[in-house]
Amino acid sequence: MTEFNLFLSHLLQQSPGVGVAVMMNNYFHDVATALMMASAFVLHVIVRIEAEMNSPVATLFFLKMHRQMVKFFRFSLWWIILGGVPRTIFYASFEWNHFADKLQVPALMVKHVLMAAAVIYGIRAWRRLKIKVVELKATLPPEMQKELQ
Ligand code: HEM
Repeated sequence: MTEFNLFLSHLLQQSPGVGVAVMMNNYFHDVATALMMASAFVLHVIVRIEAEMNSPVATLFFLKMHRQMVKFFRFSLWWIILGGVPRTIFYASFEWNHFADKLQVPALMVKHVLMAAAVIYGIRAWRRLKIKVVELKATLPPEMQKELQ
């Protein structure tokens, strides 16, 4: 263990409050991941429903919904990234499992490969969606375009 990790372990032993804060932060990192995935799923569903209905009202509904879901998505992404920082700092002294010991390293690698694949797929889907939103906005009649602003 490095000196910094020893210091963190000492801090966690001295103050259960810090331990609870780290635990909650880690839990919310997972919850925010679920939120982000759920908002991506909802976006995916409404894209398909909009395509099926193919009417200006459905397009307007989709574009308004999309705007809200994007806020939700961004919020959860920032939450994941910011919460990931203390999670990383405290990982070795808080989450490291002594029973699984070094075998955790390949397990963590597998998890990160999966996460990286999900993030890469997500970025590509996000780009496709952006193009679709621009295209759909252009198809709206002018009075509905005003409603969007
Ligand atoms: C969109 C990007 C990310 C997603 C979807 C994500 C998701 C997750 C999930 C679901 C876990 C729980 C894994 C488990 O308990 O088995 C986790 C763990 C963790 N995350 Fe993230 N995370 C992301 C970005 C980050 C970032 C940017 C950091 C660091 C700044 C970070 C640091 C960690 C750490 C240290 C762990 C604990 C180690 C592990 O279990 O793999 N994460 N992440």
